[in-house]
Amino acid sequence: MSEKVYPKNKTRVVKVSELIQSACIFFACYIFMLLVLFIMLVLHDINGWLDFCINRPTEMFSLCVCIFLLYFIIYFYYYFENKEFLVQTKNILCIFTIITVCVVLCSLAGTYVNVYVRPAALLSIVCVFLFNRRQAIILNFVFFMLVFIIDNYTNGFGTDIPPQLMYHSIMRGFVCGTLAVFVANSVRTRGGILLTGLIIAVPTVAIAILFEVSNAGTHIQWLSFVGAIGWSILGCILSSILAIAFLPVLEVMFNRLTVFRLRELTRTDANLLVRMKKEAPGTFNHSLIVAQLAESCALAIDENAEIARAAAYYHDVGKLKQPDCFTENQTDYNIHNELTPELSADIIRSHAKDGYELLIANHFPQIIADVALEHHGTLPIKFFYAKAMKISGGDADIGDYSYLGPTPHSKIAAIIMIADASEAAVRSLKEHSPENVERVVRTIIEERMDLEQFVDCNITIRELTTVKQTLVDALSGVHHHRVKYPSIRFNRERKAVADEDDDND
Ligand SMILES: [Fe+2]
Ligand SMILES: [Fe+2]
Repeated sequence: MSEKVYPKNKTRVVKVSELIQSACIFFACYIFMLLVLFIMLVLHDINGWLDFCINRPTEMFSLCVCIFLLYFIIYFYYYFENKEFLVQTKNILCIFTIITVCVVLCSLAGTYVNVYVRPAALLSIVCVFLFNRRQAIILNFVFFMLVFIIDNYTNGFGTDIPPQLMYHSIMRGFVCGTLAVFVANSVRTRGGILLTGLIIAVPTVAIAILFEVSNAGTHIQWLSFVGAIGWSILGCILSSILAIAFLPVLEVMFNRLTVFRLRELTRTDANLLVRMKKEAPGTFNHSLIVAQLAESCALAIDENAEIARAAAYYHDVGKLKQPDCFTENQTDYNIHNELTPELSADIIRSHAKDGYELLIANHFPQIIADVALEHHGTLPIKFFYAKAMKISGGDADIGDYSYLGPTPHSKIAAIIMIADASEAAVRSLKEHSPENVERVVRTIIEERMDLEQFVDCNITIRELTTVKQTLVDALSGVHHHRVKYPSIRFNRERKAVADEDDDND
């Protein structure tokens, strides 16, 4: 590997104006939440809201201030943890849509059915799939505090929930919501979400029993006791069912990437993959191999292997526009023999941009579209540059024979850039010894480092070395030396006879 200190770590600088704009959106979401609470008060009791607003102004003021403070905890959490996430409007809208819907559902369930049936774990299950574990924990914390203060200052919208039951709600929100985050974090199927609901039912029931026992003292009312257990289990199952129902809607509305969406995108009957299989079979097979390589590399450097696999499946989808212009889909006829090198290079490099546009038009997640755009960075298209130099006698501009970029902005895009080139280069080797494969992959990585292809993603030298070794191991395995088969075949009587065709090695 090269000795130079590389790469430079670059992160996008978030402007102050963007932060102010996101604070304004937070404030708009806060006002919207107050409006929703006001509508719920009016719907519950047309005269009750007047009593609340006119006769209890201090409680109304406290409610507004507490909600404001909780919303700003979320703002400051993202300000210190992930500013880039914070300045994207759709992220903020996604968070507050989930919070508002969950608050409304919990308030309605508590007011009109039973306080134990509240889908208290809904928010944490949805957030762990749409964001990540850490964000789900902090958002769940804000959510159950929000439910508590709304219960506290509105008296459960006039239903007079006893204070002990409100504290029970806090305990349940914290324990069950947090546990749901840890359980759902490793879930990969919709059935797993249902199982999460059943698992969190255990501590939920325990908390309900503790509350009922401490509340009843020596006079245990068995009916309310059994009712509390039943409603609690139902509340947990309801959280899971609602999460299964809401996730696909939120995925599409806010273009979020979840494990379920990734599974759908990587199914062999996904629309664009079916098109690739039919119209560009060579590209399809190449993409399958790159996907396997990218998945192994992502696992080796602790990146998301499922995103890497999905992005690799679609990295060359832009070739669908003119599949016959790419070697892997050609048979005898090569259109480039009739074109100028400049025009050929133009067709070849346009597949990155075409892929990006096709994926965006089909509402693919941004990271998958970005990989399609970035997977060749600003690399030169060597074959046509060499051809142009030959024809023009050395008068060709490298800029006319290079991809337009941008260079990879994520480690996954960098992995796919290396895996893509390594797969093609190793396939064309005559001798696939591990030494040869290692030499080819090392040259590919070093050339891209020299051409500054990794300056916009914060992949380190250590990770590049790991990626190189993973690719060498995988590609040596794919192109391993085959044992020559003995030239015999078996007849009907299962007796070995000499084979006439001696070339089946
Ligand atoms: Fe490509
Ligand atoms: Fe490719």
